[in-house]
This record gives sequence, structure tokens and C-alpha cells, in this order.
Amino acid sequence: MAAAAPGTPAPPPNAVPFADPAEFTRASHREAWHAETRRFMCNYVAPGGIGAEIGVFWAHFADVLASEFRPARLYLVDPWHKLHGETYPNWGRYTNFGQLTTRETLLQARTLEQRYPGIVKVKVDYGESFLAGMPDGHFDWVYLDAHHAYDMVMADLKAILPKMKSGGVIMGDDYFTDPDSQHAGVKRAVDAFAIEHGLDLVFEKRNQFILRLGAV
Ligand SMILES: C[S@@+](CC[C@H](N)C(=O)[O-])C[C@H]1O[C@@H](n2cnc3c(N)ncnc32)[C@H](O)[C@@H]1O
Repeated sequence: MAAAAPGTPAPPPNAVPFADPAEFTRASHREAWHAETRRFMCNYVAPGGIGAEIGVFWAHFADVLASEFRPARLYLVDPWHKLHGETYPNWGRYTNFGQLTTRETLLQARTLEQRYPGIVKVKVDYGESFLAGMPDGHFDWVYLDAHHAYDMVMADLKAILPKMKSGGVIMGDDYFTDPDSQHAGVKRAVDAFAIEHGLDLVFEKRNQFILRLGAV
């Protein structure tokens, strides 16, 4: 790293290292900033629970989940290469125009597994298939941020519900209220699901949703 210019104040201890937004790095990726802005979501869960993130990508929010939600067990579930192959599709800057490799993003999730031994478990799998293999009533919380189409979100929510403990929390990203948004399917599915199952729905800043399952 280049030496700081004379007179430059030292960064605070936990500062994210400077990242040039023009460079394509994990630190400069927009998910890095988005993950930081969602730290408050830990207020919806008690520490020491069993949690899962469905849709992990480069493990930006997974990092926050591990450090701030302080789970006893955290499953990080994403198909990575099973779905995308060696490199991601061209989603513009999000995937460096198709040059980002699934090896690199998976590596970051594996790094979390090493940093939190016995707590973080990486599962290269689709959400539905992973959940089907888990016992009923297992999770205190699940954070859903996978496929954003209505049918896929609905299928994931249906797969998650029986796996939740009573009093558990299902949360997720990209609950956009604009019906013309690219991800409008998330809100439509979450709203319909909440009504169908009589769940308490909270809409939070940063387009977060929270579905609270009543304690039995
Ligand atoms: C928006 S990214 C996740 C970002 C991540 N949650 C974060 O905040 O840092 C969506 C991810 O969902 C994954 N995905 C797509 N379909 C999925 C499925 N059926 N099950 C699990 N993950 C899936 C994609 O591979 C991609 O990595």
C-alpha cells in the first residue's frame, strides 16, 4: 500500500481500508457499502441463535452476519459455480462485466469459515435444496437474498417456513416498494406470503423486510 501523504490523519481502528471505487475489488464493490448500512438488522435477532443466509455472493453481508448477529451457527448457502459456472454472467459492474469468478467469491465465504471455526458452515447449494435437508424447527433466523423473481422468492419462503423455530425471524433484502423496480417480485411475494400465513411484516430502511413468526 502507498504511504499516506504527510498530515493525513490515521484511519479509525475499524475503518474499511480505502478502496478506489474505479477499481473492481471486494472492498469497493457496492455490496460492501450496502452490507455496512444493514448492520442495524442485528437488532431483530438475539445473539447465540442458529441462522442462515440464502444468497451469499462475495460474503459481504455474511461478514456482518457473523460479526454482528453473533450466531452460534451460521450457514452460508449459495450455489456459486453450480449455478454460474466458472465466471458470473455479465451483470455490469456488479460482476466486473462477467469477469468475476465464482472461485473468488466462494473463497471469501470459506475465509469466514476459517475465521469462525465451528460456527460458519459454507454450503454450495440452492436454498430450497439445502433447506429440504435441514430438520424442521431448526432456525432462529434466516436472511433471504437469493433469486429475486416472485416465484423463486415464494418457493424459498415456503421452504424456509417449516424450518423455523416458533418466534423466529425471516429477513431479507431488496423489498422495493416501487412496483416498476427490477426486484418488485420480492415485495409481491413477501406481502402475499405474510398474508397467507398471518405473519407480522416489518418494512425497514435499506429495503429490508422482516417477517416475525409468533411464538407458539
Ligand atoms: C444479491 S446476491 C447476494 C448478496 C449477499 N446477500 C450480500 O448481501 O452480500 C444474490 C446471490 O444469490 C445467489 N442465488 C441465486 N439463486 C439462488 C438460490 N436458488 N439459492 C441460493 N442462492 C441463490 C446468487 O448466486 C448470488 O450470489
